[in-house]
Amino acid sequence: MSTDVMIYASGLTKRYGSFRALDDVSFEVRRGEIVGFLGPNGAGKSTTMRILTCFIAPTSGTAKVRGQDVFDDTLAVRSSLGYLPQRAPLYLEMTVFEYLRFSARVRNLDESTFKKRARAVVEICGLAQSLSKEIRQLSHGYRQRVGLAQALIHDPPILILDEPTSDLDPNERTEFLNYLKQIGKDRTVLLSTHNLKEVEAACARAIIVSRGRVVADGPLDEIRAKSGRVRYVVSIQESVGDTPYRGKGTPPRQTEVEHALNSLAGVKKVNELPTDERAHAYELAGEDATDLRPEIFRLIADKGWVLLELHRDTQTLEDVFRQLTIGDERRNRQLGPVKDDDRRARDEEEDEDDEDEDEDESDDDEDSDSDDSDSDDDGKRNKR
Ligand SMILES: Nc1ncnc2c1ncn2[C@@H]1O[C@H](COP(=O)(O)OP(=O)(O)OP(=O)(O)O)[C@@H](O)[C@H]1O
Ligand SMILES: [Mg+2]
Repeated sequence: MSTDVMIYASGLTKRYGSFRALDDVSFEVRRGEIVGFLGPNGAGKSTTMRILTCFIAPTSGTAKVRGQDVFDDTLAVRSSLGYLPQRAPLYLEMTVFEYLRFSARVRNLDESTFKKRARAVVEICGLAQSLSKEIRQLSHGYRQRVGLAQALIHDPPILILDEPTSDLDPNERTEFLNYLKQIGKDRTVLLSTHNLKEVEAACARAIIVSRGRVVADGPLDEIRAKSGRVRYVVSIQESVGDTPYRGKGTPPRQTEVEHALNSLAGVKKVNELPTDERAHAYELAGEDATDLRPEIFRLIADKGWVLLELHRDTQTLEDVFRQLTIGDERRNRQLGPVKDDDRRARDEEEDEDDEDEDEDESDDDEDSDSDDSDSDDDGKRNKR
């Protein structure tokens, strides 16, 4: 494993009874990467993050943070990490300042370092007006700011943030994303969110999980092009009415244009689009992510035709996200038996496995993002 790999997950599987919350999840995050961790509700994002932050143990698989195993080197792992759980555990009776000082002491920060860091996190998280308030008096958004502040207080090289912006107002969200981009240059951030615009704003790479499996992992451009659905719209002048034709010879016939576009290398499909009588318009599907606009332009220029419009639509991240994960949502909305061979096959496979190994983790009490859950899994590590 390269020393640049800050977060390493290999074959992580987590079962609750016969239910597989994570199924062979593997990925790496390198120094300086801000990676969006995406997936629909219940996909396994928080479960993965809890494993990486030593809160729960997987049923099988390995996880390392900065080369340290999350079970064998828990203290070292925790000192490298800032973790914001989805529901941050806060001591409601403490003031914000007391809580930050407490978080700093737990991290072994001395008083003068704490004061320096406190100034920084108060600015990043917009907490100056709230320092003397008891946490119980704070709104959801401000509690989330406090949760973030505790994750940042020791200036960790790695941040694992589970929906850090879900309760923030748009101003604070923008501030926070700017901060992430700034610190992300020499840190490592794994950020789960349902806001795909945030991912586009802050992350160069995303990992998408669905039903416990990684279904996409790569630079956003590659993920957007993953479906292979790059679309071009081309419109060519067909008739000019009373005005002079600016192209070569006479305007082309429809069959001529269609034939020429179909014969371009890299074009998978050509569909005619409805237009008025002045233009031929087509929708072209590209074979891969290669940009065909230069070839399309060159063809039309060589023919001497008049190009009225040419544009390329790659799919948005949201389109691809929906394509990759839509099955989860359909399943949620079905009342009858789930018609999904893939899932059924997986469940059958699980049942078979269950007969082989008498394993039951249904009594796992990891709900709590609270520190109390730490010890909960020690007895299960031998399953790895
Ligand atoms: N302690 C538990 N016992 C049983 N099942 C659990 C437990 N914790 C999580 N699960 C299940 O594991 C699956 C993954 O949950 P997880 O919280 O990781 O999803 P998520 O991707 O974070 O979803 P969300 O976007 O809603 O936060 C879900 O089906 C969830 O119900
Ligand atoms: Mg979650």
